[in-house]
Amino acid sequence: MTVRINPSILAADFVDFANELTRIPTADLVHVDVMDNHFVPNLTFGLPMVERLQQVSELPLDVHLMLEDADRWAPGYAETGAYSVTFHAEAAADPVAVARRLREIGARAGIALKPGTAVDPYLDLLPEFDQVLVMTVEPGFGGQSFMDSVMPKLERLRAAREAAGLDVWLQVDGGISEKTIGIAAEAGADTFVAGSSVFGTDDPVAAIATLRAAAQA
Ligand code: DX5
Ligand code: ZN
Repeated sequence: MTVRINPSILAADFVDFANELTRIPTADLVHVDVMDNHFVPNLTFGLPMVERLQQVSELPLDVHLMLEDADRWAPGYAETGAYSVTFHAEAAADPVAVARRLREIGARAGIALKPGTAVDPYLDLLPEFDQVLVMTVEPGFGGQSFMDSVMPKLERLRAAREAAGLDVWLQVDGGISEKTIGIAAEAGADTFVAGSSVFGTDDPVAAIATLRAAAQA
């Protein structure tokens, strides 16, 4: 089974990102959380930082937009050369149009679902997306507890993906640790965002290996 581990730099040192990126050579992608203090009650950074991360990162960027008006802002993040750009379902007036634009620019298009956002309206739209991000915490902050109550959404997505014969990545984000990653993997996730459980340790490479093994156990 394919397992992707995407460390979230939300848990890294914000004034030392260049160095922090060198601590995760065995990661698959680097997860980059953009927050606007409107869609979520927290603020991180915007386009200039992502442009710069794209220039210095040897790993592809997995950009997670927690901002409003994705219709207006998401394409600019794809234009940085980011590998994937994920926006929240509620943040776009026309999610399919945004996804098509992202793909046109050359990024993978992702849609994110908050814990309270139902998955059913999006199952028929799966062909429009390259990845679906199922939030396993309320978006906005690192270090929160994993919500296993959202696992049925992953099961629905996996079934829909198989029925349609698609290759959509199913991603989880929030509270992913050695203890919880297996639960998400069993429910259908293949791509795992981990902030505190990677950057919060002294040895991120060991932490990534531990997560990878636990996902496959
Ligand atoms: C939260 C962010 C996450 C965050 C996860 O809104 O989207 O990517 O960094 O942090 P942990 O892994 O610490 O729960
Ligand atoms: Zn995230």
